[in-house]
Amino acid sequence: MKIIKNSAVLSQEYIPENIIARQEYIARLKELIRVSNVSSSFVIRGNPGTGKTLIGKYLLRELREFKGAYVNCYVNQSDRAIISTILANPNIRLPELGNSRSESLSSLLFRELPDRNNLIVLDESQSLKRTHSQIVYLLSRSKELGGPEVKLVLLSMEEPEMYLDKSTLSGLGKYNRIPLKEYDSNELYLILKDRASNGLYEGSYTESAINRISDLLEENGSARVAIELLRNSALYAESRNVFLDEDEVLQAYRDFSPPLEESSLINLDDDEIELLKSLLESISIEKGFKTSDLKDLGSGMSDSKIYKFLKSIELSGLVKKSRIGKGYSGGVENEYILRVSPQFLLAKLNILEKSKETFQKED
Ligand SMILES: Nc1ncnc2c1ncn2[C@@H]1O[C@H](COP(=O)(O)OP(=O)(O)O)[C@@H](O)[C@H]1O
Ligand SMILES: [Mg+2]
Repeated sequence: MKIIKNSAVLSQEYIPENIIARQEYIARLKELIRVSNVSSSFVIRGNPGTGKTLIGKYLLRELREFKGAYVNCYVNQSDRAIISTILANPNIRLPELGNSRSESLSSLLFRELPDRNNLIVLDESQSLKRTHSQIVYLLSRSKELGGPEVKLVLLSMEEPEMYLDKSTLSGLGKYNRIPLKEYDSNELYLILKDRASNGLYEGSYTESAINRISDLLEENGSARVAIELLRNSALYAESRNVFLDEDEVLQAYRDFSPPLEESSLINLDDDEIELLKSLLESISIEKGFKTSDLKDLGSGMSDSKIYKFLKSIELSGLVKKSRIGKGYSGGVENEYILRVSPQFLLAKLNILEKSKETFQKED
């Protein structure tokens, strides 16, 4: 039985016509961006799959009177790459690297942008920490530095205090902060229902299948993960030549590993990467691990650092809490299982370390 009518609708890049539970934020942001004629900055923070990219792209699409630019800072990590993306011209001759490189890059950027009505969205902006990027500093102070008026929207998984330095933060001035919560099961249901009605054949799926997905992923709260499970369930049902009902969802869920959010690993520091490596190399990792196992591995790491580390690897989709423990004398004891193969992850970590070295050399 054919279930998927339009696979593009089930892809992560798809921008839906109907936005669930975020309309108010979008309306408020549009208003704030349109109404003021000074530079201003906005920070939208939320865990993976909470609609950050969607909001950013929607603003760019709706605010037609602005010269818009969208930059994924995880993909474009250096200031050069970011600036050429903003200027949307890979042929622009960027000055050679040198002592005054940030100065000449900024004068180039400022020269090419119109005087006003610039809307720049920096997505995955937590990635900027690693490269010590100047870009937020430049854009948020552009007016002071003799440049144009810029509306800057930062989308990130972390609070700006975690990835911007003091002088950049003070340049942001009094910016508008928008925290996005994870979706609850009802919101997930509405998002999925809309996707299904556009992307799947009518009559090929049941309401209770959609309901089941929203319940299964209630704790996760990510629209991305929910849409991915819908896609997997539809593919599974197609392969069995049946329509998509709860059973197919449950079957698909058994082998489901959510998409890995590589960009949430980017701010792991050297100690954390080492800890993750030794965790992956420990013999029984396939069976899972407990908070106290990590403490045993993490020679000398403070408890609060271990909790922060656990939070990052959970957000990235690498591990899943399998049991929430009660407190014991040494803190809270949770149980986790690994969602990706240790070999795969070790390979990723090696790439991450290599690119870190590259950036350190550039500095
Ligand atoms: N409120 C929403 N309404 C409809 N679809 C949504 C909503 N929020 C997220 N999505 C969809 O879920 C997926 C992940 O959202 P995305 O904006 O990429 O999350 P984030 O950038 O926060 O990780 C995308 O396909 C997006 O279109
Ligand atoms: Mg995103």
